[in-house]
Amino acid sequence: MKLLQLPLVALLATTALAQNCVIGGPKNGTHVKPGKNITVEVDRPDSLTGSTEVAIIIGFMSCVGFPNSQCPPPDELIGSVLYNGPYNPQFHTNVTPTKPPYQNFSVMIPTTARKGVAQLSVTHVSLVGAGPFPLLESLNVSLIVQ
Ligand SMILES: *[C@@H]1O[C@H](CO)[C@@H](O)[C@H](O)[C@H]1NC(C)=O
Ligand SMILES: *[C@@H]1O[C@H](CO)[C@@H](O)[C@H](O)[C@H]1NC(C)=O
Ligand SMILES: *[C@@H]1O[C@H](CO)[C@@H](O)[C@H](O)[C@H]1NC(C)=O
Ligand SMILES: *[C@@H]1O[C@H](CO)[C@@H](O)[C@H](O)[C@H]1NC(C)=O
Repeated sequence: MKLLQLPLVALLATTALAQNCVIGGPKNGTHVKPGKNITVEVDRPDSLTGSTEVAIIIGFMSCVGFPNSQCPPPDELIGSVLYNGPYNPQFHTNVTPTKPPYQNFSVMIPTTARKGVAQLSVTHVSLVGAGPFPLLESLNVSLIVQ
């Protein structure tokens, strides 16, 4: 039984890797201001395995006050939810260099954001393959609130 399960787990892991999203922007270390909107670009590299998008959550959390200004992982704490809803990545052919399908979201940095390091997170939920199996992934970049 164990022997039979291993290849499936390996297959699922490989498939899951191919479904990963990438935060195309803002770049890690970007300076932001409370109350101002920023564009969050969520890239979804094209892959062979069919997957169905379910939703994404864009979160913001100040890391000030945590040891070494290190926020808890975004799959444990999200903080303020800046966006929660559908994710519909599209090809944008008018951009150079060519990018994978992506979607931009305009979200506002909370007016109460504390100065210093903060964590912007993207939590992505999708259905992968014919099974399908659910995929949950968390991504993050650090922002500097001025
Ligand atoms: C992101 O930026 C933060 C703060 O500037 C820095 O501490 C961290 O090492 C950077 N992480 C990566 C993956 O570059
Ligand atoms: C944030 O993302 C970087 C890769 O960009 C990763 O190395 C790091 O473990 C993540 N941090 C947390 C707290 O999940
Ligand atoms: C999405 O946002 C990025 C970064 O701000 C920008 O370069 C790109 O032109 C935007 N794409 C669209 C279709 O608005
Ligand atoms: C700023 O972000 C909020 C969500 O945080 C959004 O509702 C609003 O439309 C955005 N404003 C602009 C000008 O894009």
